[in-house]
Amino acid sequence: MSDQPVGVLFVCLGNICRSPAAKGIFQHLVERRGVAGRFRIDSCGTGGWHVGRGADPRTIAVMAQNNVPLTHSARRFAGAPDLDAFHWILAMDRQNVIDLTRMGAPRTRVRMLREFDPALAGRGEAAWEVADPYYGGDSGFQTMFEHLTAACEGFLEHALPR
Ligand code: 4NP
Repeated sequence: MSDQPVGVLFVCLGNICRSPAAKGIFQHLVERRGVAGRFRIDSCGTGGWHVGRGADPRTIAVMAQNNVPLTHSARRFAGAPDLDAFHWILAMDRQNVIDLTRMGAPRTRVRMLREFDPALAGRGEAAWEVADPYYGGDSGFQTMFEHLTAACEGFLEHALPR
């Protein structure tokens, strides 16, 4: 087994809703499993509007309601340094994938997080989007949380070094 931690970078558009939540959920999962030391986990956005800010208040609320810790400062995808630092570049939707490739990520390096939800195995990219809750109501944030949790659990099984 390699001593190097496995780098996991969650990516969405604004880096204030989906990818910060995914990071917090995955961090919580690996801590509960006692494997946190094997991973280096971060999140970023393809857009730069919220750089330096905390997560959306509705993201903060849904994480607190589900007892999952979250600390966050938004940043933008950095291109080559992120490609070097993270093995896994996990996008939330198909537009994120397109934007990441425009920002220099080889298409083969980018995966969609929900691909790893066992309930969605083999379904294809259209089924693997994490809906953007930003413009909707609070219920979208709970749905986001549930979809991210299932996908992060599946991804952990896939990514755990054996
Ligand atoms: P996220 O949601 O990509 O899940 O962080 C969004 C947050 C902000 C914006 C869009 C989506 N925005 O346009 O500011």
